[in-house]
Amino acid sequence: MSTELIRPARSINGSLTLPGDKSISHRYAMLAGVAEGATRLTNFSTGADPHSTLACIAALGAKVEKQQDGVIAITGTAGRFRQPEGNLDCGNSGSTMRMLAGLIASHPHTFVLTGDRSLSARPMERIRKPLAEMGAEIHLTGGDGAIGGHAPMTVVGHPLHAIDFTTPIPSAQVKTAVLFAGLQAQGATSLSEAIRTRDHSEHAVRAFGAALTRSGPTSDGASRLSIEGGQKLHAIDATVPGDLSSAAFFLAASLLFPDSHLVLDALGMNPTRAALLDVISGLGAKIRMLNVEEFHGELVGTIQVNADPNARKLSAPFEIRGSLAAQLIDEIPVLAAIAPYTPSGMRIRDAKELRIKESDRIDLIARNLRVMGAQVTEFEDGLDIPGGQQLHGGTIDSGHDHRIAMAFAVAALRASGDTEILGAEAAAVSFPEFFPELDRLCQR
Ligand code: S3P
Repeated sequence: MSTELIRPARSINGSLTLPGDKSISHRYAMLAGVAEGATRLTNFSTGADPHSTLACIAALGAKVEKQQDGVIAITGTAGRFRQPEGNLDCGNSGSTMRMLAGLIASHPHTFVLTGDRSLSARPMERIRKPLAEMGAEIHLTGGDGAIGGHAPMTVVGHPLHAIDFTTPIPSAQVKTAVLFAGLQAQGATSLSEAIRTRDHSEHAVRAFGAALTRSGPTSDGASRLSIEGGQKLHAIDATVPGDLSSAAFFLAASLLFPDSHLVLDALGMNPTRAALLDVISGLGAKIRMLNVEEFHGELVGTIQVNADPNARKLSAPFEIRGSLAAQLIDEIPVLAAIAPYTPSGMRIRDAKELRIKESDRIDLIARNLRVMGAQVTEFEDGLDIPGGQQLHGGTIDSGHDHRIAMAFAVAALRASGDTEILGAEAAAVSFPEFFPELDRLCQR
């Protein structure tokens, strides 16, 4: 386990290009694995999670080459995954396990999907149920405890048939598992979601050449997808946009210091991910977007961020709840970590899903904020964090969770005294360059 020492900073300034988006990298890698032909992916995520996906699709018969310029070249299996020799090791990656389950469920082999300790404690019934309705045979481990069935997971391939499915929880991973299974099922699979989750799978499926229809979103955010089974995918050449959820750490850090200035290039700004930008400006940053373009359905551009020195106190705590909580689910740790320093504080609700991420993030946020001297109230589905607090350094337990390790490195920048982040190596799950990049951009 490695420890990072974070010293307080005076400001954060400079420009940064983020490694490729984790969510998009997973999807491109999986679809490239099942497509026909040679896909080239530039700026693929450097995180360990999407590399778990690459290892899995290689085990399933795709040819994966990591070139020197960072390009990942994948020759697909043209719809015919082979029987892997061993288990499909998904590492720490819930996205790999859940989305891959949908992609492989119709292939005539037996697959065993395993993960690390954290992943093996995360709920998998949420994908087993809809996939079983489509005719998939999936065996989970356990099932009696609070989280229900979990990994190791065995998928025995069978032909699938289309279903009409409404996602019971806002989860892009569940949506994607059904969509990927639907792509290889007989008939047209329909999928409705009440709260619109990130739509990278929809764009990716189209980029690889499949037709997909979408209606909505309606005024309350609901949307409906339909995909015809049996469509062939073809290889693509793509550059993965910079990861906005990794940028979130720097955006949040910029709010801590009035004279901060950041330029983030080639950043993914998909509207289903970009709620963060509204929140950051609601908390007092001025954001300018430049050169926004669309590639394979994904918006990419440059943003310039200046923390507003005149940010006014809001009349109530900044609220993250309802569909906003679902859209910001990966950014809540860092927003909560800077909340004590904001003038008005933060109220977070409807975020129960945070308890079943790579760790129980609500518990770890509350515990680590208290270690730094903050006042915080924990709820089953969120947190109340008063503003106007000054924190002190302390020893942070990352809980082996990448987003907790990085969130508290940001909180440490404005604390009095130094902070130790235990288990800092977890950052590599999504963003191995995080600590050196933070150090480079911080003025001390
Ligand atoms: C992801 C969806 C979210 C998110 C995860 C990545 C994705 O999970 O927390 O980091 O790439 O689809 P859920 O779909 O479980 O909400």
